[in-house]
Amino acid sequence: MNPVDASRLTVEVCLTRAGRLETMADDVRRGLTAPQKSLPCKYFYDAYGSRLFERITEIPEYYQTRTELATLQSIADPFVDDGRFTELVELGSGSATKTRTLLDAMERRGCLTSYIPVDVSEAMLRESAAALLDRYRNVTVHGVVGDFQQHLGSVPRPTGPRLVIFLGSTIGNLQSDERRHFLAEARELLDADDRFLIGVDLVKDVGMLEAAYNDSAGITAEFNRNILRVVNRELGATFVPEAYRHSAYYNEADRRIEMHLVPEDVQRVYVRDLQLTIDVSPRETIWTEISCKFTWDSVVAMLDEAGMTLTQWHTDPRGLFGLALAARHG
Ligand code: SAH
Ligand code: AVI
Repeated sequence: MNPVDASRLTVEVCLTRAGRLETMADDVRRGLTAPQKSLPCKYFYDAYGSRLFERITEIPEYYQTRTELATLQSIADPFVDDGRFTELVELGSGSATKTRTLLDAMERRGCLTSYIPVDVSEAMLRESAAALLDRYRNVTVHGVVGDFQQHLGSVPRPTGPRLVIFLGSTIGNLQSDERRHFLAEARELLDADDRFLIGVDLVKDVGMLEAAYNDSAGITAEFNRNILRVVNRELGATFVPEAYRHSAYYNEADRRIEMHLVPEDVQRVYVRDLQLTIDVSPRETIWTEISCKFTWDSVVAMLDEAGMTLTQWHTDPRGLFGLALAARHG
C-alpha cells in the first residue's frame, strides 16, 4: 500500500485512555455486582476482538454479513442516484468492508467527498481509514474514535447531502432504552434531505439463528471469552477465560439472541483496580450480549418513535436480513 496522504485524514479521539478506563471501571463494577452479572458488549472490541468479529463475518453459519452485502450490492447505484449524497457517515464502522459498495457507487457518480467513520475501536478505525484513503483518492476521512451512545455530537456538521449508515444489525446489540436514546441522537445528524440507512437482522427459524451464534469452529465462543481478557488487561482482573463455557440461545419472547459466559465451577475473581472480589457460580452466568431480531413492523415502529419515517425497505430473497432507509419526519 502507498503511504497514506495525511492531509486527507483527521482522527478525533473522544475517548481518552483515562476517561475510557473510568467508564469501564464504573460499567464493570455495576455489571459484576448486580444480581444478574453482566458486561457491556462494547468491550468485546479491542484489537483482537475486532479481528475475531471479522472472522465471524466469514463463518458459514453467520449469514448476516454476506446477506446484507448482497442486498447492498443490488441497491447501491439507484440508491445513490436518488440522494446525490456527498458524505457518508458510518456508525460502528468496524472494517468498513461492506461500506465500499456504497462508496464505490458514490464515487462512480462523482459525488463522494467525505467519509466519517465512528467507532469505539481506534485500531480498527485507523486501519480501515488508511485502506479507504488509499482506495478513494479524492475523499477525505474524518474519523471519530468514540462511543456512538455518547459522542455523536462530535460528528462534524454536514457540508452536503449526507447518508448516515448503521450496518450489521449493531442496533440489535442495544437494550430498548439505549436504542431509543441512540436513535434520537442519530436523528439529530440528519437534515431534511439526508437519509439514515440501518441494517437489521430479521426474526427467522430458531435453528438458523442459534447456529449463527454457536459456530462449529468456536470463533464466537472465543469472541465471547475475549471480553474477560479485556477486563483482565484493562482493570487488572483475574478471570480465567478458559474456565467459562460459551452459551448463546434465542429468547423467543423477547426476540433476541442472548449470549452468556457460564463457569464450569465456582470462579473467584479479583478486580484489582476496583478492589472488588466476586464469586461466579455455575448456577449463574455473566451476560455479555443481546442481539435483537426485527420485523418490518418493529422497524417502522422503532423509527417512528425516533421521529423518522421509513422511505425504502429492502431484503434478500429469503427475507433473512433487512435494510431500512429512513428520513426525519417532515
Ligand atoms: N459495521 C460493521 C461492524 C459491525 S461490528 C459491520 O456491519 O460488519 C460492531 C462495530 O461497532 C465494531 O466495529 C465495534 O467496535 C463498534 N462498536 C460497538 N459498540 C460501540 C459503541 N458503543 N460505540 C462505537 N462503536 C461501537
Ligand atoms: C455486531 N453485532 C451485530 C454482532 C451480532 O450478531 O449481534 C456481534 C456478534 N456477536 C456474536 N456474533 C456476532
